[in-house]
Amino acid sequence: MSDDASPLLSHDRPRRTRRSAALRAFVRETDLHVRDFIHPLFIAEGNGVRKPIDTMPGHAQLSVDQLAAEVAELKALGITSVLLFGIPKRKDDTGSGAWDAKGPVPQAIRELKRLAPELLVIADVCLCEYTAHGHCGVVRDQSGVVVNDETIPLLGKAAVCYAEAGVDIVAPSAMMDGQVIAIRHALDDAGFTDMPILSYAAKHASAFYGPFRGAAESTPSFGDRRAYQMDPANAREALREVQLDVDEGADLLMVKPAGSALDIIHQVRAHFPHPLVAYQVSGEYAMLKAAAERGWLDEPRAALESLLAIKRAGAERIITYYAKEAARWLAQA
Ligand code: PBG
Repeated sequence: MSDDASPLLSHDRPRRTRRSAALRAFVRETDLHVRDFIHPLFIAEGNGVRKPIDTMPGHAQLSVDQLAAEVAELKALGITSVLLFGIPKRKDDTGSGAWDAKGPVPQAIRELKRLAPELLVIADVCLCEYTAHGHCGVVRDQSGVVVNDETIPLLGKAAVCYAEAGVDIVAPSAMMDGQVIAIRHALDDAGFTDMPILSYAAKHASAFYGPFRGAAESTPSFGDRRAYQMDPANAREALREVQLDVDEGADLLMVKPAGSALDIIHQVRAHFPHPLVAYQVSGEYAMLKAAAERGWLDEPRAALESLLAIKRAGAERIITYYAKEAARWLAQA
């Protein structure tokens, strides 16, 4: 090396592969694809309902008759899967609307399968949208405790109801112990031995679900969900939750939320071979939207970066309220 040469060793210069767009594309480790995105849908009871959700701009509660337009849009964008939540008119103590064959979700499943048999339809299985108190299970009077073992057979009934309607995957999200095995047995007993379970295996009691609870009208009327959802401080416990769900027969795994649990996504990917989905939740979307509205962030870049990070961490599929917009941005890129 001559005296005036750079002191850097010339054999170790990562910038070499950043010099042009072609080089950068060539060495890119992670790519987003429209098939990665799962689009959430909030299905309202009734007719002619298209009620915008204030806290989640661009999203609306839709009644079943609105699905044809929705499906056409998803098809045009190349989005191949949806996740359904129900917004029933009547709620009760046990959340019995969750297994009502005439409820919004089973009706939506039938309609979606009629409109687009190839669209992958996933149904969230929980009671919180259907209970008057907004908790994810049956509540013991006075004490306010959500009773695990009385809740899990009800989740089984809901899963069977969606299976009967023709759903492709059931996704239990109530965070009750033993919910996966209870649902597996209920499905098997009803003849649905082939119905896959996508378990919300590691789900934190997160402040980032706030906007969703407004959308799904499922805010608990008392207390919170910390006695059944996980403490966001815990990662080892997340692996234990995932292991239990795998042992109980989960076919696919989910980590939720995504952006504040990238370490958990990474660890689940490293420890388990199952397909892995991450849920970029309502609060993650709302934060980006709000900052973008104020001009504080470049929305397409920030949103795609957030999705890329989730994929880089190890998730193969992402439930995201950005599904449609991200599909458009990717198509333009
Ligand atoms: C139902 C459920 C929730 C979410 C998905 N399924 C609410 C909750 O656990 O309180 C949140 C999704 C989001 O914030 O986008 N249990």
